[in-house]
Parts: sequence; structure tokens; C-alpha cells
Amino acid sequence: MPDVTLTIDGASVTVPAGTTILKAAEKLGRQVPTICYHEHCTANGLCRICVVEVDGVKPLLPACLSPVNEAMKVSTSSARAERSRRTILELLDSAVDLSEAPEIQKFIEDYRADRSRFPEGKRARGCGA
Ligand code: FES
Repeated sequence: MPDVTLTIDGASVTVPAGTTILKAAEKLGRQVPTICYHEHCTANGLCRICVVEVDGVKPLLPACLSPVNEAMKVSTSSARAERSRRTILELLDSAVDLSEAPEIQKFIEDYRADRSRFPEGKRARGCGA
């Protein structure tokens, strides 16, 4: 399989084709937050906390699922990606008891998520209410 060279946060990295953005970022020592991704499981892309911004691509891409492309330019911590992560964390916090998930609570601190943005009252309504 040929190698692919791309830029992540301004740093060049070369990885085998088919490598995910997450793995390429890790090769550069970049930390992209993950919740639903696990090394030895098939990625399902459910949580979207790992989203990154790619030049010329409108939607944010989940780093754990998205393969690299030649000359791709990725930003792992753009304002848009961080805002999206913050919103995901706020929604998650409003819907799930995170008291047993210290790693997610750390993300909430790191991204300065507003724990009061989505009031607890919404928890009781559930889907379709
Ligand atoms: S870690 Fe959940 S979608 Fe990537």
C-alpha cells in the first residue's frame, strides 16, 4: 500500500494509505479526544467527539473513521472543532450520568463545557418529547 503525506496542525506526516486521521495525528503526538473509539474494536463513529476540520471539506470529519488523503490539511483544534466538541459534551452531560466516567469529565473541563447549557429537565423528557 502506498504512503500518503498530509499536514496536521501544520506538521507534515507520512503514513500508509488507509490510515485514519486519528492514527496519523497520534504519530505526530497530537491528542484528539475519543470516547466511542477503542483500539481493538471496529470504529462506529457514534460520539463525534473526535471531529477535526479539513481544508476544503465542509463538514467536520470524525478522525477515528476518516482515512487520510494525499496533501490533506487537517486542523485538530480549530475553533469550529472545539466548539463542536464542547456542544457534544454539554449534550452528553445533560443526558447521561457521567459520575463514573472521569475521562469524560476531564474533557468537560478541558473544553470548558457549560454544564448548565442544556437543563437537566430535558433528561426526563427523552426522545420525541
Ligand atoms: S471517537 Fe467517537 S466518533 Fe470518533
